[in-house]
Amino acid sequence: MAGSMERALFFACVCLLVNSAWAEDPYRFFDWDISYGEISPLGVPQQGILINGQFPGPTLECRTNDNLIINVRNSLPDPFLLSWNGLQQRKNSWQDGVSGTNCPIPPGQNFTYRMQAKDQIGSFFYFPSLAFHKAAGGFGAIRIHSRPLIPVPFPSPADEFTVLIGDWYTTSHKALQDLLDSGKELPPPDGVLINGKRSPNGSDFNVEQGKTYRLRISNVGLQSTLNLLIQEHCMTLVEVEGTHTVQNSYTSVDVHAGQSLSVLFTADRSARDYRVVVSTRFTGTTLRSTAVIRYAGSSGPAFEPLPAAAGPSDDDVDFSLNQVRSIRTNLTASAARPNPQGSYHYSSINVTRTVRLASSAGPAAGAGGGGKLRYAVNGVSFAEADTPLKLADYFNISGVFRLGGIPDAPPPAAATGEVRSETAVMGSDHRSFVEVVLENGEDGVQSWHLDGHSVFVVGMDVGTWSDRSRDGYNLVDAVSRCTVQVYPRGWTAVLVALDNVGMWNMRSEVWARRYLGQQFYLRVHTPTRSPRDELPIPGNALLCGRAAAAGQGDSGLRSKPKPHQTTYIKYNNIIQSKPPHSI
Ligand SMILES: *[C@@H]1O[C@H](CO)[C@@H](O)[C@H](O)[C@H]1NC(C)=O
Ligand SMILES: *[C@@H]1O[C@H](CO)[C@@H](O)[C@H](O)[C@H]1NC(C)=O
Ligand SMILES: *[C@@H]1O[C@H](CO)[C@@H](O)[C@H](O)[C@H]1NC(C)=O
Ligand SMILES: *[C@@H]1O[C@H](CO)[C@@H](O)[C@H](O)[C@H]1NC(C)=O
Ligand SMILES: *[C@@H]1O[C@H](CO)[C@@H](O)[C@H](O)[C@H]1NC(C)=O
Repeated sequence: MAGSMERALFFACVCLLVNSAWAEDPYRFFDWDISYGEISPLGVPQQGILINGQFPGPTLECRTNDNLIINVRNSLPDPFLLSWNGLQQRKNSWQDGVSGTNCPIPPGQNFTYRMQAKDQIGSFFYFPSLAFHKAAGGFGAIRIHSRPLIPVPFPSPADEFTVLIGDWYTTSHKALQDLLDSGKELPPPDGVLINGKRSPNGSDFNVEQGKTYRLRISNVGLQSTLNLLIQEHCMTLVEVEGTHTVQNSYTSVDVHAGQSLSVLFTADRSARDYRVVVSTRFTGTTLRSTAVIRYAGSSGPAFEPLPAAAGPSDDDVDFSLNQVRSIRTNLTASAARPNPQGSYHYSSINVTRTVRLASSAGPAAGAGGGGKLRYAVNGVSFAEADTPLKLADYFNISGVFRLGGIPDAPPPAAATGEVRSETAVMGSDHRSFVEVVLENGEDGVQSWHLDGHSVFVVGMDVGTWSDRSRDGYNLVDAVSRCTVQVYPRGWTAVLVALDNVGMWNMRSEVWARRYLGQQFYLRVHTPTRSPRDELPIPGNALLCGRAAAAGQGDSGLRSKPKPHQTTYIKYNNIIQSKPPHSI
């Protein structure tokens, strides 16, 4: 009798803990259907990935702490997953949507992501993470607005525009994937898109004279660094991947692969059309595309020729370095919480570990290597496993990945170009504070992204990193973000608090490199299994590979999916409702 009472109490407590993450905060429901459809953004018809018939996909718009319930129905003939670039998935790597955390959604089936924009603000994007799907679309913007009572450090803009920019190929994603599978490099891209379009058929942004607008810009392309400018207008940088920045004015901004930022601009010129110009950088041959900013009552088209000279020259690393060094945190501004961002003194925390990660390329030995071109981190090229690593870890299935497979420093062999192919995972302790130095010994710009975390970007330069480089670190007001560039033959240093338990993808945002192994998983681990540190495996988790059998008879361990309330209020493409009252 007492025993069952205790059990009931225990069960109630677990439920409270489990559900505290969801309690009170509003729910937003999204229903997305993924399909192939013909698109011709560069004037050449090709197969695109559409979400509810749209290319790019709909904007995922929400507020800090909102619960996002996104039902994704896969109407492609291929396995599919969406991932969320910048959504931190606190305690919830179960929803990260990469092959190391989730089983693919099989053709014709659906998966409901249940996640929360916990303690976040800012501009991010989502994308398809499997195969080479990203080359076909399936991406869209994520906007996390501040809660109503949290001060935002600038007046409310008259409107906000999503600006998804990226390089683009007219070659199908499958042909590009075949090229990579055969060990070849990709050719240069065919063009640049702005919100899925290119001039002269570009998108228009309608503005009124005297008003100020926010552009939320994300580089959703496959590789190229892009520079964006607005003819005759300056831009004020206000936000970088969830950090409110010191509000500097720029004539053009560089956005590297996978990065996001927000700028304000005021329509303070005479009423006519102006162009938004987006150009590739560091590529040798500049590709360019434009969109139109149209003033109400415009007296005519934009001035020609385009202000190409207003942007930096293609190979000007100094311009880019100077710009990135000027991007700093506004220490007196609030972020997701009502306290200033500067109250977190990252410089007073002791670094417990230094990890140096060098990227390399070369013919690969080992599993699936076969001597073909692969890309690597510290000499190790990631080999996909038959079972998501997160599930193998959870179900104690051995032999799927090797913990400790990535060394903390580049081995001398990495320099020779020989790479080893392996399903390698880097281990780390929950709450450790780590210095990561990203080293780029090659000629192209690198861009690195870590899921589940933001990192303080304390240093960046060309040349070789050494202990003495630490003397130049910004230990006062570095920005905290999730995607950082590394210049050719240069390095970038970041500090990161590993405060989010889970299995997290660390990847090159140069998509061919990621596809051919320049990624790994970082396991942030605590020996205690507590919902305080990590949410339980979701009740609807798809099970596959060696986890399919392991999952049988495990239903008691998996949390029950929460019932959906039946009355929804439909608003834009968002269906809102109050959280369910009864569990
Ligand atoms: C622009 O649109 C026209 C008419 O729809 C089409 O013929 C042309 O190919 C398009 N150009 C580009 C670059 O998409
Ligand atoms: C598929 O959608 C149904 C209906 O919305 C939902 O109940 C179910 O949980 C979804 N399946 C998965 C695996 O999430
Ligand atoms: C920083 O944010 C505050 C609001 O908290 C704002 O008043 C100030 O102008 C901002 N400073 C800079 C340099 O951007
Ligand atoms: C950091 O390390 C120093 C020297 O080892 C030590 O004195 C200090 O207490 C540590 N600080 C924290 C916050 O752990
Ligand atoms: C995996 O192993 C751990 C530690 O031995 C144990 O606590 C846990 O219950 C196991 N998980 C499953 C799903 O069997």
